[in-house]
Amino acid sequence: MPTPEMSLPEAPRPRVLVTGGTGFIGSHTTVLLLAAGYDVLIVDNLSNSTADVVGAIETVAGRRPDFVCGDVRDGALLARLFARSAIAAVFHFAGLKSVAESLVSPLDYYANNVGGVIVLCREMAEAGLHTLVFSSSATVYGDSDTLPLTESSPLDPAQPYGRSKLMIETLLGDLAATDSRWRIASLRYFNPAGAHESGALGERPRGIPNNLMPYLCQVASGERPELIVHGNDYPTPDGTGIRDYIHVMDLAQGHLAALDYLNTHSGFVAINLGTGRGSSVLDLVHAFERVIGRTLPRRIGPRRSGDIAACWAAVDRARELLGWQSERGLDAICRDAWRWTSTGRRPQP
Ligand code: NAD
Ligand code: WQD
Repeated sequence: MPTPEMSLPEAPRPRVLVTGGTGFIGSHTTVLLLAAGYDVLIVDNLSNSTADVVGAIETVAGRRPDFVCGDVRDGALLARLFARSAIAAVFHFAGLKSVAESLVSPLDYYANNVGGVIVLCREMAEAGLHTLVFSSSATVYGDSDTLPLTESSPLDPAQPYGRSKLMIETLLGDLAATDSRWRIASLRYFNPAGAHESGALGERPRGIPNNLMPYLCQVASGERPELIVHGNDYPTPDGTGIRDYIHVMDLAQGHLAALDYLNTHSGFVAINLGTGRGSSVLDLVHAFERVIGRTLPRRIGPRRSGDIAACWAAVDRARELLGWQSERGLDAICRDAWRWTSTGRRPQP
């Protein structure tokens, strides 16, 4: 005789939309969402990723997300997708993220980042969907003498990319203030780095990497001749810049914690996602060298324009509201980034 439980049909899995889900952070978060029992629909225009990431996600998670190649600024597309199946929440990763590029093409950054959120939120509201986890950035803070940066530290981004993120936060706050159905978490990432521990998923920058970790990986693999340390005359213990490097899988876990939080809280909240610890450029280089067992060619160059000396997160709000904190350190970040670089990484076309 089957027990009553055994004869019950399986409950449908809640379905979430992940915009930018074939990108670096979105793909890692999708793996955890699938593992946690969600169905995932990815919408990505592949402007900074490739469709084969969907297969890599399936390999790692054991289940395949649905994938639509499209732009979040295409309101008609979003309306069709929302009408086709019930979506419980949206994770909005899609956007442009290069500080340097934003200084050259500010309109592209405002159009894509701010424009994308306007279209997305309009279509969400139209579909009666009001739960949103947004990818913000520590770039929204100004260059502060007071560290760590709390969510109430002064907001004063120095470039169009950061200003696009701050505009979006303002917009989302206004939205939540005028309609109490909205549940919005804006997650301010510090310095995401590392890769999935399987070696099958990771970061795939196009061209010369801007960020330290992918650059280090390319020096270690011989694709670049040396690392240039951008300045060693900052007022820090070893003179190099200090940042809060957070493992991408810890960051991904923070998104699931944010969704849990939004299930019981309405309104708008901004939350730092970092480790609460600062590491210098040389700390990261030494950790990487320990992991790969050899030293890397490097020289000291001039400061990079626009860089600040130091920045790391206060993580109390994330701990208190989300019950989340990072678990992995610099060694795990370097080990996983190197495994991905040396075994799994395919260049972007
Ligand atoms: P990524 O470029 O790897 O991923 C973003 C994805 O969005 C890409 O796959 C790209 O093709 C897609 N995309 C861009 N514009 C789109 C559009 N209009 N419609 C549909 N798809 C679009 O970047 P990431 O590192 O995964 O970053 C994800 C988010 O987190 C971004 O919003 C970024 O600004 C933010 N963020 C990233 C960092 C970081 O250092 N990686 C730090 C802070 C915040
Ligand atoms: C880290 C440190 C560099 C490269 C950027 C964006 C920020 C966020 C994360 C999106 C600094 C030094 C770097 C190199 C070096 N992205 N460095 N040699 O600048 O803290 O943050 O990425 O939201 O918005 O501004 O990160 O990885 O570029 O630099 O010495 O070849 O490494 O000077 O001290 P950053 P980064």
